[in-house]
Amino acid sequence: MLKTDFLGIKLDNPVIVAAGPWNRDGNSIKASLASGAGAVVTESIVSDAIMDVRPRIAADSMGAQNIRLYSDIQIEGWEREMNIAKSDGGVVIASISGHSPSEVAYMASKMEKFGADGIELSVSNPAVESLEVVASDADTIYEMTKAVVSAVTIPVTVKLSQNTTNIAKVAKAVKAADGSGVTAINTVRGILGVDTDTAKPTLSTYGGISGEYIRPLGLASVATIAQTVDIPISGVGGISTAKHALEYMMLGASVVQIGTAFVTEGYDIIRKIVQELEIWGQDHNLKNISEIKGKALDNLKSFEEMKYEPSVSIVNGTLCTENCSKCIDLCLYGAVTRTSGKINVDRGKCTGCGLCTSICPANKLKLGW
Ligand SMILES: Cc1cc2nc3c(=O)[nH]c(=O)nc-3n(C[C@H](O)[C@H](O)[C@H](O)COP(=O)(O)O)c2cc1C
Repeated sequence: MLKTDFLGIKLDNPVIVAAGPWNRDGNSIKASLASGAGAVVTESIVSDAIMDVRPRIAADSMGAQNIRLYSDIQIEGWEREMNIAKSDGGVVIASISGHSPSEVAYMASKMEKFGADGIELSVSNPAVESLEVVASDADTIYEMTKAVVSAVTIPVTVKLSQNTTNIAKVAKAVKAADGSGVTAINTVRGILGVDTDTAKPTLSTYGGISGEYIRPLGLASVATIAQTVDIPISGVGGISTAKHALEYMMLGASVVQIGTAFVTEGYDIIRKIVQELEIWGQDHNLKNISEIKGKALDNLKSFEEMKYEPSVSIVNGTLCTENCSKCIDLCLYGAVTRTSGKINVDRGKCTGCGLCTSICPANKLKLGW
């Protein structure tokens, strides 16, 4: 039920371990593959030496910020690492990054020779401002994609950034250059927080924010691409449950990738998500998980298409004994009251904004007319 064909690569399931230092060499990739993932993307490989700053990763309950740049193993060293990575089988996609079309083409052809099943061209890095400029530059992305596609016979996807003025335009450039697919999204430039006692930001420079913080951004990016460009999408950003994976797929992703949750929650998370997807598919009588791809897109309208419906909040079950008064306290229009435990909505005051329906922990209110 979960077997899928992504860009012509056969995967046992659509859950992929995203690029990151958890896939920094042959042994770590082997461990990621053993987690039950359909495929693994290497940490981004570059041709120049990288100096690691310390500290470079900080996490909290919502996600992480990182300023790790790229793999510290030079391209030639990846022949040895790929042999180790693939010694038990499994699909390995090589993430590469570089400054010019010829540089990325050279690296892609090397990684194909070393056994990569596909290439993921990374065109952004939130810690490096100059690369963030490339992330919005459809012409440069076209040139780089074209060069890589011409240099290899394996599929090429381009990993896009949400830090761009128009992600659909960039995805169109990938398609025009005959790229096989896109991955969305990379981390988003940000600062996790500031220690107010020492006045020090969590990490000492801007970095890439990942995890829960960015899932709504990832979902919107995937949906925007799916609605405007006919190209396979690998969805990534803030996925830690099967539900999150399904959300990405329903908004147009063919497969999903998991990064931060893989390390903050442990490698078992992959098997758990895969099992939950399997059960969900059986419960919903699916022959293949790909049947849900894009299912939510018909329900996602542009603002101009939104219909005017005279909805107001109505009470679903009159008695509410919850020790809570959120609907009353937070109603922007003073429309909700409670008398002797009975919730009442004044339809004359209610403007149907919907806030109370989403904040009610007991699900007592709904919109209707
Ligand atoms: C510590 C860390 C290092 C990362 N390194 C890379 C990288 O080398 N190449 C890349 O394309 N993305 C890299 N990413 C981005 C992830 O692959 C992924 O796109 C992003 O974190 C969003 O997914 P998540 O919320 O599941 O982590 C990195 C993310 C983290 C947290």
